[in-house]
Amino acid sequence: MAGTVAERVARLRAEIAQHNVRYYVYDDPEVSDAEYDALMRELTALETEHPDLITPDSPTQRVGAAPLAEFGSVRHAVPMLSLGNGFEDEDVHAFDKRVSDTLRGAGLLGPAEQAQYFCELKLDGLAISLRYENGELVQAATRGDGQTGEDVTANIRTIKAIPLKLKGQAPAVLEVRGEVLMNRAEFEKLNQKQAARGEKVFVNPRNAAAGSLRQLDPRITAQRPLRFFAYSWGEVRGLPSGLAEAFDESAPGMGAASTLPRDTHGGMLEWLSGLGLPVNVRFNHKAQGAEGLLDFYRRIGAERAGLPYDIDGVVYKVDSLAAQRVLGFVARAPRWALAHKFPAEEATTDLLDIEVQVGRTGAITPVARLKPVFVGGVTVTNATLHNEDEIRRKDVRVGDVVVVRRAGDVIPEVVGPVLEKRSGELPLFVMPTHCPICGSTIERLEDEAIARCTGGLFCPAQRKQTLLHAAGRKALDIEGLGEKLVEQLVDNGRLKTLADVFTLDAFELAALDRMGKKSAENLVAAIDQARRPSLGRLLFALGIRHVGETTARDVARHFGSIDNIMDADEQALLAVPDVGPVVAGSIYRFFREAHNRDVVRQLEKQGVAPQAEAQPQGGSLAGKTFVLTGTMPNWSRDEATRHILAAGGKVSGSVSKKTSYVVAGEEAGSKLVKAQELGLTILDEDGLKALLGQ
Ligand code: IVH
Repeated sequence: MAGTVAERVARLRAEIAQHNVRYYVYDDPEVSDAEYDALMRELTALETEHPDLITPDSPTQRVGAAPLAEFGSVRHAVPMLSLGNGFEDEDVHAFDKRVSDTLRGAGLLGPAEQAQYFCELKLDGLAISLRYENGELVQAATRGDGQTGEDVTANIRTIKAIPLKLKGQAPAVLEVRGEVLMNRAEFEKLNQKQAARGEKVFVNPRNAAAGSLRQLDPRITAQRPLRFFAYSWGEVRGLPSGLAEAFDESAPGMGAASTLPRDTHGGMLEWLSGLGLPVNVRFNHKAQGAEGLLDFYRRIGAERAGLPYDIDGVVYKVDSLAAQRVLGFVARAPRWALAHKFPAEEATTDLLDIEVQVGRTGAITPVARLKPVFVGGVTVTNATLHNEDEIRRKDVRVGDVVVVRRAGDVIPEVVGPVLEKRSGELPLFVMPTHCPICGSTIERLEDEAIARCTGGLFCPAQRKQTLLHAAGRKALDIEGLGEKLVEQLVDNGRLKTLADVFTLDAFELAALDRMGKKSAENLVAAIDQARRPSLGRLLFALGIRHVGETTARDVARHFGSIDNIMDADEQALLAVPDVGPVVAGSIYRFFREAHNRDVVRQLEKQGVAPQAEAQPQGGSLAGKTFVLTGTMPNWSRDEATRHILAAGGKVSGSVSKKTSYVVAGEEAGSKLVKAQELGLTILDEDGLKALLGQ
């Protein structure tokens, strides 16, 4: 009997460990949370009944031990190194040249051969060293100064991605190095929870990960969504017999000698993965020569914003361990590796002032005026603070040193103050009661986060934004009617409504600031072109609240003419597919305003004649759902997605029985496996192109 309980306990532990890997490493759970919880409950119950069966590597032991008074210190058997940095393409060419020259000199690379590299993401978390003895996790330490770190074993044991026991044939000693991090979505959720409980909110996922790990109470760490990826190793000793002792590593400065089972970096990571350690298989990639490295850098740069976690660059490592030994080290960084950094997405600077801006619909946005700072590849002087509540929540005050973030093409935002740098009492932000532009009252409805200027088109700020919106690419597409021009034409009283745009002539335009004769003529031609917009574009151009370009097109198709739309009541508007009460109410109220109907009549007088909206095309891929995985030779994922959408298909992130096609490129991962299991049709890039008729 006891034997069967012990067996069941062992099986449950193995199963739970397997589910942890699927969830935390591949983001692809095979069971629901409820099923996972049931396994944990069963294991807990068996262990409660048979306490003698409890082992330190049981998943029930991850809840967190008693708090510590302080962290002990750990001397790393092999020092934890740092990486040399590069920023420009030239740095990568120089790195590849240094590597190749040395390897050619040593006879490890032929004259015409290119050096082989292993490329990884530079994860923005904190480095950790895990020590396994005979397959058991016995110690975990932070990097510290590279020689000595802090003992965070009790905390590390709560991270589900980290195996407490290795699978298969583990060596007597194995030190694994990698990064502990937090996914962005999980970080946001954690911050919401912290704020709701009145507890500290973190500035970014890296600080949250570091704060969670350097917690004296492991029970708190256990509640934090930490993850881990392995990318290196320290001491490796006592490989089990049967594993060829392929390699002795005793590079200068490395301290203890290691015996390694593989002769490439990539091979070592595969080996670590086989022992159950999380390795970033989704992005790790082999490349040749400087151009191969730069391709990887560019591809990851394009995907950066869509990754689940923050990265601050990519890392290139010479793949051959023999070559690494020849290259050696300078100071504390290996000569065989380079961190190629992306422009930092965050920086700190002084918050000089908070002003408010008035948007097209009167929305008042507080804007931070900053001491200029270089972030996300540009110099930033203004950043959004979103709204009043957000300022309160973040406790941002004029005079603070603040963290500014600009990720991808997203508008720069103030993340929060650096409280340690605040000196004395700083005043709280107060929302003005009147619009700084037109003096109208600012009001904020009870259930809305946004305060609004009530001036409507009387407010020059709203008028300017409305005109710019109407001239935009998705609306009337009037090239040349930009911010500076609209500014002048509204300020000098020439443009009061959209219809006035169609009365502008080249002569008066040429007299304006920054306008020549030629650009004035071009603008008049562009305005003339805009007299034949599709009905949907015209409707969108009017700037009705809640009416985006798609809604505008749907409404236009349904009603066929501007008069029909203007006269439709809410009931009639609700008959349009995807139009709900908010949109219907907004359109209806817009056209009950005499001045809005007037604008339409004036536009007609100026010769603006909307064209019937084209009816939707079925598209050759209508009704088909695609999942993309891996890297295609020519198309990026975004490109492939655009083509599929254009042909009427859909693109989904996860494979299921409902998936019509899985498009698999190089290094396709678990999605491909799942597709094969489900017997779905799998295509490569050429197959997709054929399907698209290309
Ligand atoms: S390798 C001998 N690989 O970057 C090489 N480090 O600037 C040791 N990091 O302390 C490090 N992602 O915290 C390596 N794929 C990666 C990495 C990585 C992030 C961090 C790590 C290290 C720092 C060095």
